[in-house]
Amino acid sequence: LEICEAILGVAPFAGTRVCFCRNILGWMCLISRTHVSCDIKGDVAVVRFNTPNSKVNTLSKQLSSEFTDIMNEIWANEAVKSAVLISSKPGSFIAGADLDMIEACKTSQEVAQLSQEGQKMLEKIEQSPKPVVAAISGSCLGGGLELAIACHYRIATKEKKTVLATPEVLLGLLPGAGGTQRLPKMVGLPAAFDIMLTGRNIRADRAKKMGLVDQLVDPLGPGVKSPEARTIEYLEEVAIDFARGLANRTVSAKRSKGLMQKLTDYAMAVPFVRQQVYKTVENKVRKQTKGLYPAPLKIIETVKAGLDQGHDAGYLAESQNFGQLAVTKESKALLGLYRGQVYCKKNKFGTPQQEVKTLAVLGAGLMGAGIAQVSVDKGLKTILKDTAQQGLDRGQQQVFKGLNSKVKKKSLTSFERDSILSNLTGQLDYKGFEKADMVIEAVFEDINIKHKVLKEVEAVIPAHCVFASNTSALPISQIAAVSKRPEKVIGMHYFSPVDRMQLLEIITTDKTSQDTAASAVAVGLKQGKIVIVVKDGPGFYTTRCLGPMLAEVVRVLQEGTDPKKIDAISTAFGFPVGAATLIDEVGVDVATHVAEDLGKAFGERFGGGSIELFKLMVEKGFLGRKAGKGFYIYQEGVKNRSVNSGMDEILARFKLPAKPEVCTDEDIQMRLVTRFVNEAAMCLQEGILSSPVEGDIGAVFGLGFPPCLGGKRLGWALGWAAQLAVPLSPAGPFRYVDSYGAKQLVDKLRKYEAVYGSQFTPCQLLLDYANNPSKKFHQ
Ligand SMILES: *[C@@H]1O[C@H](CO)[C@@H](O)[C@H](O)[C@H]1NC(C)=O
Ligand SMILES: *[C@@H]1O[C@H](CO)[C@@H](O)[C@H](O)[C@H]1NC(C)=O
Ligand SMILES: *[C@@H]1O[C@H](CO)[C@@H](O)[C@H](O)[C@H]1NC(C)=O
Ligand SMILES: *[C@@H]1O[C@H](CO)[C@@H](O)[C@H](O)[C@H]1NC(C)=O
Repeated sequence: LEICEAILGVAPFAGTRVCFCRNILGWMCLISRTHVSCDIKGDVAVVRFNTPNSKVNTLSKQLSSEFTDIMNEIWANEAVKSAVLISSKPGSFIAGADLDMIEACKTSQEVAQLSQEGQKMLEKIEQSPKPVVAAISGSCLGGGLELAIACHYRIATKEKKTVLATPEVLLGLLPGAGGTQRLPKMVGLPAAFDIMLTGRNIRADRAKKMGLVDQLVDPLGPGVKSPEARTIEYLEEVAIDFARGLANRTVSAKRSKGLMQKLTDYAMAVPFVRQQVYKTVENKVRKQTKGLYPAPLKIIETVKAGLDQGHDAGYLAESQNFGQLAVTKESKALLGLYRGQVYCKKNKFGTPQQEVKTLAVLGAGLMGAGIAQVSVDKGLKTILKDTAQQGLDRGQQQVFKGLNSKVKKKSLTSFERDSILSNLTGQLDYKGFEKADMVIEAVFEDINIKHKVLKEVEAVIPAHCVFASNTSALPISQIAAVSKRPEKVIGMHYFSPVDRMQLLEIITTDKTSQDTAASAVAVGLKQGKIVIVVKDGPGFYTTRCLGPMLAEVVRVLQEGTDPKKIDAISTAFGFPVGAATLIDEVGVDVATHVAEDLGKAFGERFGGGSIELFKLMVEKGFLGRKAGKGFYIYQEGVKNRSVNSGMDEILARFKLPAKPEVCTDEDIQMRLVTRFVNEAAMCLQEGILSSPVEGDIGAVFGLGFPPCLGGKRLGWALGWAAQLAVPLSPAGPFRYVDSYGAKQLVDKLRKYEAVYGSQFTPCQLLLDYANNPSKKFHQ
């Protein structure tokens, strides 16, 4: 401002810190604002969002108030006829509301108030006599999308990074600034529900088809400036031109709706049809969330209020429901999980000295091919090596299928698929390994094979190349024992199916160097994973926590609770899959191996159930889903599984008397949960875990720890979850202790310890927390 005054000799308007100055290009206003700025180009005001010191723009109090001031000035300034809203940041239009602002509210009324302020502001924009055009490049999420749809016209760049979504539901909230009211009018009721209940990202071209944006601009190639900068400038030009046209009425913002949309709108205008839609959607939501999540139902209720009772009722319902949801424990847990995810998306080890550009994956099995897919998909040159042509063909086919399913879902074009695939090389030898920056082995879980492979690889790779093992059970230090360069050896434990499970558990040994860890984390993040880094030890973290719980499942089975009942009890608690089904999914043989290995390492704490029961199952070929038989019978194409009657004899053989004092449904639930939580706490106590945050994230995204869960375990479990509108709630063991109470949890453990013995002995860390009620794992 001072510069402006000094150079141009213009005094600021009284009371404001704005000055309009004329330069060669037209009017400009120089403002000492920090989050939003504005230039006037001819008669069009260009409003730019730019949250300081952040990669993305967020709708914070500060940004909103500056934006409001600017809009008021635009409305008051007769020289301005229209406005364009755009971001100064590449990659982010507005990525949503400032979550701190919502969390800082103490009551639901306070949050409702915030929502009302937002609603009012956006209504003013909607009713603005001067047309407002949103020019969107990058993420346009939550409140950002609500702002965009309140504008008169939306232009978006056809770039990959341009995505629109209302992710509020994933945080246990709803769009609280008019979104629930505007979206159904804009894209039709069914599509609006789909957008709001899934929170999924919608790419620009798809958004255009849905009517969520009105016009697309193609990204530009490189010129004097980067393609990114050129595209943004071009977007701005197009938007300014359109805004000017709207103001002088040479163009119209009116969309011509397609026939389908017209028919849908017509049908939705019939109250009876609408009621049917509500009912169908509601049933689906209830089924998927098992009633554990309030947000999706509130979204339906809010939309309904607006469509059935009118504008005022709709807006009131929106702000009040938004307020109510923000103070629920589900929303707080989801928010905690979200923050945990953000934490696990940063590389704590810094930038690796050498960026990994070429990755080699050994073993084209399910896991290896999955790793290759997520790598090549994110722009890494990837070599997939196997020892047999047949295995290699299968693996390459898997990668193709994985990418092709994205083409089918329209999130990728077939051209993009093919150019991605051109970065994948399938081979049987070590050709090209001299260029590899990292090798991930996904070979058979056998220490001798791993050793052989490690030696072969070390003979061909360059000095800086990292060697990572995908083992789930073998200690990494044991694998590294034969290495010439143990500082370059690390564990990368992926979860199956790799393209769907979000977690990656990275394991460092005492010898692993900081830079190796940094490389592994960087690759994991590039692959789109949420990364936790743990210390080496039997079962690392995720597998280890699961061990005692599975042992307890066996015990409960032995005491005569049938698998269906166990499943019902565990899903009612919020696990995404029942505990018996989980064993079938993991594979009974795998579970047996894990139980034996960990039992040897940890002794009694992993006791409880008889491992002989599993062994007998393996003997009979009841290996779980992959064998078509486990606790249940699985048939191709048959959804309704029945209990495997062959298990009756096995269960009878291992039958133990139930203990009446600890066999209510709640006790059974708590026996499973307390053992899991106790082991997780032990991992933190021993330093396997470096923070409770990582413990929660690992449990939720790797194993699906409830209550009401987020991630999901293996295979089908995840497939199922991926279809969910919301991740079943997400707390993780440490957040769970905080909310249940460490003392209460220790009391439970003591109660079961008195009956069963030391497998329930609470660890020291839990005792410390129980003795000091002010201690919490999460503040
Ligand atoms: C109206 O705006 C358009 C778009 O900028 C411009 O090309 C046209 O000359 C304008 N017409 C008048 C009459 O100002
Ligand atoms: C292929 O790999 C190169 C080099 O790593 C990368 O620059 C390019 O973007 C990749 N291509 C695709 C389509 O991902
Ligand atoms: C590593 O990959 C192999 C081969 O695909 C697989 O058998 C093994 O289970 C994988 N390890 C983990 C942790 O999944
Ligand atoms: C599925 O199985 C349950 C219980 O065994 C039964 O009640 C139900 O009718 C079955 N459904 C179908 C479609 O077969």
